[in-house]
Amino acid sequence: MLITAVNLSYLLGATAFVIGLRQMSTPDTARKGNLLATIGMAIAILATLFLPISGADNNYIWIFGAMTIGGIIGYISAIRIEMTAMPQMVSVFNGLGGACAVVLAFTELVQIADGRIEATLAQLLILFLTLLIGAVAFTGSMLAYGKLQGLVDDRNVTLPKHNILNIAILVILLVLCVYVISNGSQPSLFWISSILVIALLYGFSFVAPIGGADMPVVISLLNAFTGLSAAAAGLIYDNNIMLVGGILVGSAGIILTIVMCKAMNRSLFNVLIGGFGENHEGKKQEGEAQLAKEITCSDLSVQLFYSNSVLVVPGYGLAVAQAQKVVKRMDNLLSANGVDVKYAIHPVAGRMPGHMNVLLAEADVPYPKLLDMEDANEAMANTDMVIVIGANDVVNPAAYDDPASPVYGMPVINVWEAKNVVVMKRSMSPGYAGIQNQLFFHHKTKMLFGDAKNTLDQLNDELKTLES
Ligand code: TAP
Repeated sequence: MLITAVNLSYLLGATAFVIGLRQMSTPDTARKGNLLATIGMAIAILATLFLPISGADNNYIWIFGAMTIGGIIGYISAIRIEMTAMPQMVSVFNGLGGACAVVLAFTELVQIADGRIEATLAQLLILFLTLLIGAVAFTGSMLAYGKLQGLVDDRNVTLPKHNILNIAILVILLVLCVYVISNGSQPSLFWISSILVIALLYGFSFVAPIGGADMPVVISLLNAFTGLSAAAAGLIYDNNIMLVGGILVGSAGIILTIVMCKAMNRSLFNVLIGGFGENHEGKKQEGEAQLAKEITCSDLSVQLFYSNSVLVVPGYGLAVAQAQKVVKRMDNLLSANGVDVKYAIHPVAGRMPGHMNVLLAEADVPYPKLLDMEDANEAMANTDMVIVIGANDVVNPAAYDDPASPVYGMPVINVWEAKNVVVMKRSMSPGYAGIQNQLFFHHKTKMLFGDAKNTLDQLNDELKTLES
């Protein structure tokens, strides 16, 4: 009776996960989807608390103690985190999920080594799989966190021919696992610990050579790894909700990885062996120093006021400046004057998938005003004015014409095809990929320097004077 009730609750929880995920796919229903998935998780946790543990008492003091500490840390981090630091937080939480899977698999394996419990070949296989994938997700995510937070420099953790080293470690790991599993149903603690240590090292080494614009892909891949390790742990404990939850995270992570690889026009293999330690600095400009032309807020306001069509290209700097609401105000002022204002969204603009969509939804920008990259590029030639706000890598022409550039091959927004381009940023500093952008020196481009929010505030003031 109890088991049936728990399983029914699991079914309810899993249904909430699936519907919640579905709702998260559009900004209109994303909040509801998040809430529904949270309720599903609460149901799953509550039901699990009622599960009897064979041969032991449910130790509620430990369970509630851990849940309280984890809950408080999670709540405080989620409240305090800046939107721009979200990928770092996702990386850390993701890594901790991998670490949980490692602890579960290691605990079981230690008991098997002691002879306290017995395992079939299939169970051993799943346990080692959980240990391996969880360990790689853990150390890989921690290194990804360090890189995104600027604590670790790619060049300091990448060795020459690093990818060959990675392949060698992976082969050693797999051979060891096959050796240990095929050598009897009671592996020794020495071999279990050795495999764990090498897997932890491999996770670190796997992420070490990946960097620059490829980080979003590796983060979503590690996310998929964590999901798969949780699903494998669900198999170990014969726990359906863990299995379903893990598979959902794993498959969502894999789909996102594929979508992002497509957006960057790269194969996953190419990303993984990318080797950013190999000094991709991009084309050096020879000859005379290039000069960028500037524009004032007052001149820009006049040009915008008399344009027919304006395309805003938001990037990471818009998020840093928290300028989304001021952009919407500019949009309102221009639209009231009959200007057609649209937004071009690059799939990896910002620092997390959908970053720009979330920001603009926060400012109540209507969804139909957002163009994806392909539609924006088609509309470009007929656009009077493009305003690039805090975007850099996603509008870099080096993606087409500089094979030595780290962004080469990634589709970008072809803003230079519009009639006029204005770039708002604080300085000539590079973006995430660390490379200079020839767009700033293009004959159609004018620079408007300053914090995006302050600049847009001034621009809005100028627009208001034109209106009156
Ligand atoms: P970036 O290339 O990172 O450029 C952002 C620009 O914003 C910088 O050049 C910076 O120049 C400017 N900026 C910063 N603060 C500003 C402020 N307060 N006001 C005005 N401008 C400001 O951004 P992007 O074009 O959005 O490209 C995203 C990059 O991040 C890609 O390389 C992508 O691969 C990578 N990435 C993406 C993700 C996902 S999933 N979206 C995750 C991790 C990494 P100044 O300093 O001169 O102002």
